[in-house]
Amino acid sequence: MKVVTFLSVKGGVGKTTLTVNTANELATKIGGSDKVLIIDLDAQAGASVYLLGYDQQQALEKQNQTIHELLDKTINNQDPNISKYIINPYKTNPSSGWSPRLDIIVGDSRIIDLEREIISRSAAKGFGWSLILYQLLTKLSQLNYSFIFIDPPATLGALSRMALGASNYFLIPLIPDDFGRVTVGMFTKDFFNQAFYEIALAGRQDRPLCGGIVFNKIKTSTHAKIADEIADEICGKKLYDKYSIPVYKTKLYDRIAYVKSLEEHKPLYKIGDKKAEEEFQSFFDEFYDYVVRDKAKG
Ligand SMILES: Nc1ncnc2c1ncn2[C@@H]1O[C@H](COP(=O)(O)OP(=O)(O)OP(=O)(O)O)[C@@H](O)[C@H]1O
Ligand SMILES: [Mg+2]
Repeated sequence: MKVVTFLSVKGGVGKTTLTVNTANELATKIGGSDKVLIIDLDAQAGASVYLLGYDQQQALEKQNQTIHELLDKTINNQDPNISKYIINPYKTNPSSGWSPRLDIIVGDSRIIDLEREIISRSAAKGFGWSLILYQLLTKLSQLNYSFIFIDPPATLGALSRMALGASNYFLIPLIPDDFGRVTVGMFTKDFFNQAFYEIALAGRQDRPLCGGIVFNKIKTSTHAKIADEIADEICGKKLYDKYSIPVYKTKLYDRIAYVKSLEEHKPLYKIGDKKAEEEFQSFFDEFYDYVVRDKAKG
């Protein structure tokens, strides 16, 4: 079981879009009884709305069939029946194009309150909170998920750190503008060393590795130029002074097909934009090499 998180300091860079489409693509490719799961950790529940539509996400939130109750029970040492919280979008809408092997644990706006509670309750107990999700995921290991994608909120608060604490790989989607440069600076300076220190103090031995930096929503020639400059800057930098930080060669351009895919609650490949599809496939091939085949470890 591999756990993957697209992380960013800035909102709207494409975390949810890339999570949902990458998870779906992987789910269509795997065989046997293997499956892929998305865990929606964002109060906006973007991944859940993308896959299921607004009405169904809201209904599940009302029925407490979301990550909120699942995490709440976990924190309060009750043993949750995890299968109650696993939703299969294909079952609701087979014509949407989502893989039958793709499941989701739905997001909930109340996760913000839970985040606050987790921090205040564990303030006296050090960094244990950063592994709450990691521990929950070990319970999922009997359920045939070969990949779990966590969709975190923007910002690097407690929920994103919990996601990092549970991940084998994190990826960084970036819009290559001047904000993007600032983001790269943050990530390559102290953030990961500090986050890893917390994770290690909490008791996890291995470290989350970088599955890559991906340029998304490129609109102008300046964006493309900044992307190349950032790639040059990253080249030669090492994560934890040891592991490579892959920069994807594929640049994802700003394409209306992504917006339609969200509006229609369908995967990108169902929208019928050949250029966007080819670009995404080329990104996915790199993802497959770095993360699925573990080339990023080298
Ligand atoms: N390559 C792209 N071209 C055009 N639009 C895109 C592209 N990637 C994402 N988008 C659009 O940008 C918006 C934000 O994307 P998304 O929700 O995936 O970002 P996010 O990082 O998850 O945001 P948040 O921080 O709010 O969770 C959405 O409307 C999405 O459809
Ligand atoms: Mg999002």
